[in-house]
Order: sequence, then structure tokens, then C-alpha cells
Amino acid sequence: MSPIKTVIHGALGKVGQVLVSSLAKTPEIKLVGAVDLKAAGGKITLPDGSAIPFSTNLEEIIIQTKPQVIIDFTLAHASMPAVRIAARHKVNLVIGTTGFKAEEVAEMKQLADTNKVGMILASNFALGAVLMMHFAKLASKYMDYAEIIELHHEQKADAPSGTALSTARAMAAYRGRPFSQAADDGKNLPSRGEKTGGVTIHSVRLPGLMAHQEVLFGGLGQTLSVRHDTNGRECYVPGVLLAVQAVVKQTGLVQGLESLLNL
Ligand SMILES: NC(=O)c1ccc[n+]([C@@H]2O[C@H](COP(=O)([O-])OP(=O)(O)OC[C@H]3O[C@@H](n4cnc5c(N)ncnc54)[C@H](O)[C@@H]3O)[C@@H](O)[C@H]2O)c1
Repeated sequence: MSPIKTVIHGALGKVGQVLVSSLAKTPEIKLVGAVDLKAAGGKITLPDGSAIPFSTNLEEIIIQTKPQVIIDFTLAHASMPAVRIAARHKVNLVIGTTGFKAEEVAEMKQLADTNKVGMILASNFALGAVLMMHFAKLASKYMDYAEIIELHHEQKADAPSGTALSTARAMAAYRGRPFSQAADDGKNLPSRGEKTGGVTIHSVRLPGLMAHQEVLFGGLGQTLSVRHDTNGRECYVPGVLLAVQAVVKQTGLVQGLESLLNL
């Protein structure tokens, strides 16, 4: 199979920069263009010294470079217009941006179906994090109390994290009955965090952190913790690569990487 022609939307972001430098060295991918609100010049230089078109205008880059896939790591309000443009041009999408509303995800599904393009939306592309979520889901059938502590760098725009929300929703759905609640439940005490699917989520934002999540379960005389730590943004690269290779073979919206890993 020839390398998949790919554009990165959000190329100057913390994740975008890692994707540009890593995917440029990946034989399965051919980076053909990049887009960012802060793009200054008409080209972005890759690690091998070659240059690809770089613009603030996604549609212009799509017309110029004819990509098969757009990888989006921006902000939810920037991402939705990009999704609409990509779908209109029949370009598949791998979306890592978090913070979408339910109606925006519904629109993605409708755009993917109507335009017969593939879209993969995942709140966490770190494969270790996908496994952490899977193990947490399995444990929720057997442990009656559950809370999540998610810890991120101080510049993260959304809280709780997309990963924490996805984890809590998946745990609640898999468990199939409500979790037991602590004695303060119903009092809405601010320091007791936010509840999603009956799971209390606590968000910590500090410099020095990257992306970390611990799911804690409590039962009679025991606790169980499932924890994942991101120590470098390179952790997203294998998951993004997997998604790019999968998205060109599908139509419609797939949420999460679980099905790609046969979990
Ligand atoms: N799914 C995952 O595994 C995962 C992992 C890390 C971060 N994220 C999410 O990815 C997103 C990006 O994270 P980050 O840490 O790289 O953020 P960042 O703020 O460092 O980067 C965002 C980039 O998007 C660009 N941008 C903003 N608006 C734009 C627009 N209208 N058009 C083009 N570019 C635009 C910005 O200029 C910036 O360079 C966030 O939503 C974050 O929560 C997801």
C-alpha cells in the first residue's frame, strides 16, 4: 500500500508538533500539508529538510494537496468547521481534539454517513490509556464504588478531561447498574468533584504534569487502582498511526480505539 497522504490540522500545537516530526519519519504516511491558526509562512520544514505547504486555510490546503486523511488536534470550536470542510471534500478524519458537545458528535456522525467518509474520534490516542480505560470498564462490574482523579498540565482548556468523561461513561454503561455513592452524595459539595454516570471525577491542573489518570475502586476491605501516566507526547503517535491506517478503509464515525485494538 502506498503511503497515506495526510494533512495535520493544528500543526503548531503541542501534540501537532510531535505528530509532524514523528509522522514525517513514518514510511506508512506521507505528510503533504499542514494547517494552523498561527501559520506564518507558506511552508513547514520536515526533519529531513524538505518542505510541505502550510497555511491558516484548511480548504486551500485540501485543494492544493488532495489528502486522504486530515489529523485534527486543535480546539473543539476550531475543529467543527474543519470537520465540515473535510467531509464536504470527502477527506477522512482522525480527530484527537477533545471538548465536543453531544450534538457536535452527532453532527460528525451525520456528516460521515452523508458524505461516505471515515472519521475516528478518540479522546485518548495513547494505547496504554486505552488499556487503562478497558481495565477500568471490566472492574466496574465487580467493584461498587468508583472515583476518577485526572491530572493535567495547567494549560489544558477543558475539565474534566475527555478521557475521564469517556472512561466514566464506558464504566457506567458496562456495569449496567448504578455505582454506590458516598454519604455526601446529593449535597453537591464543590470539592467532591463532578459526577458522570455515577462516577465522581476530580480534575487537577498543575505545571509539571502532562496527562495522568487514576481510576480508584472501593469495596469491602479493599481498593483497586488502575493508573496511566503520559510522560511524553510521543505516546499518541502509534495510536494516531493505527487510526490513519484504519480510517481510509471505513466509512462512518468510529469513537475510541477499542474496536481497532479488538478489545
Ligand atoms: N485525543 C488525544 O489523545 C489527545 C491528547 C492530547 C491532547 N488532546 C487534545 O488535542 C487538542 C490539542 O491539544 P494541544 O495540547 O496540542 O493544544 P495546543 O493548544 O498546544 O494546540 C492547539 C493548536 O491548534 C491551533 N488552532 C487553534 N484554533 C485553530 C483554527 N481555527 N485553525 C487551525 N488551527 C487552530 C493552535 O494555533 C494551536 O497550535 C486539545 O483539544 C486537547 O485536549 C487530545
